[in-house]
Amino acid sequence: MEQRPYQHTPVMAKEVVEYLAPAPGKVLVDCTLGGGGHAEKFKSQNLKVKIIGFDQDVEAIAAAKTRLAKYDNILYIHDNFANIKKHVREKVDGILFDLGVSSYQIDAPDRGFSIRENGPLDMRMDKSQEFSAFDIVNTWSADDLTRIIKEYGEERFARRISNAICVTRNAGEVKTTAELKVIIEKAIPTWKKRESVTRVFQALRIAVNAELDNLKKALSDSIELLKPGGRLVVISYHSLEDRIVKQLFREEAKNGILKIMTKKPLTVSAEEIEANPRARSAKLRVAEKL
Ligand SMILES: C[S@@+](CC[C@H](N)C(=O)[O-])C[C@H]1O[C@@H](n2cnc3c(N)ncnc32)[C@H](O)[C@@H]1O
Repeated sequence: MEQRPYQHTPVMAKEVVEYLAPAPGKVLVDCTLGGGGHAEKFKSQNLKVKIIGFDQDVEAIAAAKTRLAKYDNILYIHDNFANIKKHVREKVDGILFDLGVSSYQIDAPDRGFSIRENGPLDMRMDKSQEFSAFDIVNTWSADDLTRIIKEYGEERFARRISNAICVTRNAGEVKTTAELKVIIEKAIPTWKKRESVTRVFQALRIAVNAELDNLKKALSDSIELLKPGGRLVVISYHSLEDRIVKQLFREEAKNGILKIMTKKPLTVSAEEIEANPRARSAKLRVAEKL
């Protein structure tokens, strides 16, 4: 497989390393390996830490293998992190989720995540999955489209946008992100068109990859896999994800299962935002297993 250079800067790496404290004999699970940015920080902190890395994107796994080639004691798993319990059979010291898509995925027009560059209506993180944004845009009912655009995109003009999609597709399939962008821009009555496009793309991405359901399952299973004193670190990039993490942490703290280490989520420093503007919306929450 031809590999484009994998560009992605690990977000809040210093904080992640501090909380997960890689050390000899420790086992850390990186549920979102991406290009191996955080995993590399773990290894540079301590060569003897064992890492189990997941990614559902085969290109990310390939990039991480290249970047981390000089390290041993790393297990690469190409699967959805929702299947964590299927692969991880031991109790572990720490688990990291750095959610969403990588810069590499966003910047590849052929993946269909970018709002800037034209590409196919795809948005699958796992290319072996058949269901893509094309299916949602071209086959879902106006009601279902409205529901996801409202729920996952928090877009107030959801109904207008889904109606416009349905009218356009009656004249022929909507195939590209550029076509979808034009439909959205024409449908809304405000000048904040870019924000609406971003929100609709977010909604489609969440629906295509069942992101919220997978996150809920993976977080619950991860808590079971932690040793007492083991830590769960989650970096989220939008309020829907963050709410799921916050609520689960609170519930499990009430049940006496977790201790919350970050009363409020940690956010990205001004210096890091300057160096890596894509990190700006990141929120980091940590909990420890009791
Ligand atoms: C923000 S990137 C992680 C970047 C990584 N921490 C680094 O520093 O290079 C998120 C990665 O998680 C993967 N991902 C997202 N949801 C996933 C899921 N449900 N299962 C497995 N991998 C997932 C994406 O394919 C992407 O490569």
